Amino acid sequence: MVRRERAGDVDAIRDVHRAAFGGADAVEATLVDALRADPGWLPHLSLVAERDGDLIGHVVATRAWIADVPALGLGPIGVLPAEQGAGVGSALV
Ligand SMILES: CC(C)(COP(=O)(O)OP(=O)(O)OC[C@H]1O[C@@H](n2cnc3c(N)ncnc32)[C@H](O)[C@@H]1OP(=O)(O)O)[C@@H](O)C(=O)NCCC(=O)NCCS
Repeated sequence: MVRRERAGDVDAIRDVHRAAFGGADAVEATLVDALRADPGWLPHLSLVAERDGDLIGHVVATRAWIADVPALGLGPIGVLPAEQGAGVGSALV
């Protein structure tokens, strides 16, 4: 199931990106936290993929600007390594 992020998902989202991007130091994990604190954060566009209650993927799109034209920046997107290649990333996008 793909659904919006909830308050209790924050730690699991960080863990998904650490696993997807290869380790505890993965910059993408802290990038999501930084984006969440940014005025460009769009809560309805932070989506998780969940199966049997476990969070297996996450994607976020945040507000961007190209000159004065509003745009969306997509990412990071991450899927747990064991779940990759099965369509989860496509569903999130
Ligand atoms: C990229 C990622 C989110 C894709 O999720 P996924 O569930 O494995 O993707 P899907 O199974 O839905 O495949 C979607 C398509 O993306 C392609 N794809 C998957 N991983 C890819 C990669 N690393 N590079 C290029 N293409 C990739 C697949 O081949 C597939 O293409 P197709 O539809 O033409 O066959 C996932 O592999 C991941 O978390 N990778 C590590 C983190 C990362 O690199 N994120 C992207 C940068 S923010």
